[in-house]
Amino acid sequence: MNTMRRFPADRRFGRAGFLGAGFLRGRVLRAGFLRSQPVLAALAMAAGIACLAPVASAQENHAAASGEASQSEAPHFPIEHPKQASWSFSGPFGHYDKGQLQRGLKVYAEVCSACHSMKLVSFRTLGDLGYSPAQVKAFAGNYKVQDGPNDEGEMFERAAIPSDYFPSPFPNPQAAAAANNGAAPPDMSLLAKARGVERGFPQFIFDIFTQYQEGGPDYIYSLLTGYRDAPKGITVPEGGHYNPYFVAAASLAMPPPLSADQVTYDDGSPQTVDQYSRDVSAFLMWAAEPHLEERKRTGFMVLVFLLIFTGLIYLTKKSVYARKEPDAAPQRG
Ligand code: HEC
Repeated sequence: MNTMRRFPADRRFGRAGFLGAGFLRGRVLRAGFLRSQPVLAALAMAAGIACLAPVASAQENHAAASGEASQSEAPHFPIEHPKQASWSFSGPFGHYDKGQLQRGLKVYAEVCSACHSMKLVSFRTLGDLGYSPAQVKAFAGNYKVQDGPNDEGEMFERAAIPSDYFPSPFPNPQAAAAANNGAAPPDMSLLAKARGVERGFPQFIFDIFTQYQEGGPDYIYSLLTGYRDAPKGITVPEGGHYNPYFVAAASLAMPPPLSADQVTYDDGSPQTVDQYSRDVSAFLMWAAEPHLEERKRTGFMVLVFLLIFTGLIYLTKKSVYARKEPDAAPQRG
């Protein structure tokens, strides 16, 4: 009777169910000392640590490697955590501000594209920013891309069309590095997603709850506004620039790319380095994740569905495990 109470499902599903449940119980209990909960918890923790250990040691190796590298070259500047800017696309209902993206495109096109390519972003996707097909076509026409070979077997240059991608201003990475103090400007297609910068304890715990995903644009914004004179006692290598936000190497090879009033905005937004940096960072976020709005919308719908589904499952469980009196069942015969 005791067993029946603990496993009412046995009663409801008859002998087969009883055997099934008994079999499972036997399997779990027969595992000897595994029966005690503290031991199980300890095993689970050990497995968890074993899984994390390779990650930790990989990070240590990386730190050691970069430490060695920086000892032989120049010591790394102290790195600061990126500033946290406010973005229209943060949070569960985040969306892109098209005006901001258009300004960001202008900054990219007039300044950054002199050095940085965006080989995974095609001109036709600029339609997302609110441009008409004719405008996109005219915009693409400003760029030259290599095509060919033609009937004579020669490669040739032609004006870009909407199906082309933002080209690199340099013929190859070596030429790009040679023109920029030995560091090739990275392709910008995914840069806003590729730079995930540590936020440190306890911030990273809060980030889980606030759904913080703007590490990339925060980093780019901080980097662009972060140039300053090197503090006393730190020598910046020849051709390098002091920027405490730069994480990829000992010193930044990119000269400060922006200055006030460099790009003319038509919508009356302030023409400051701060505003340019915000706009171009938002634009790069769009370039790296054009379907962000759709993703957030779908995610929200999924959560609503799961909430409703949880309610239904709970009601089902309540009904299945309810104490049903025998005489409440329909009479047979
Ligand atoms: C004169 C050429 C030049 C221009 C113009 C330029 N950059 Fe760069 N950029 C570079 C170079 C070179 C690097 C590589 C730096 C290094 O690795 O030290 C770089 C690196 C970067 C990085 C990567 C930093 C990292 O963590 O690796 C970002 C972000 C960046 N640039 C943003 C921009 C933006 C945004 C613009 C336009 C406002 C811009 N750059 C304009 C040359 C340029």
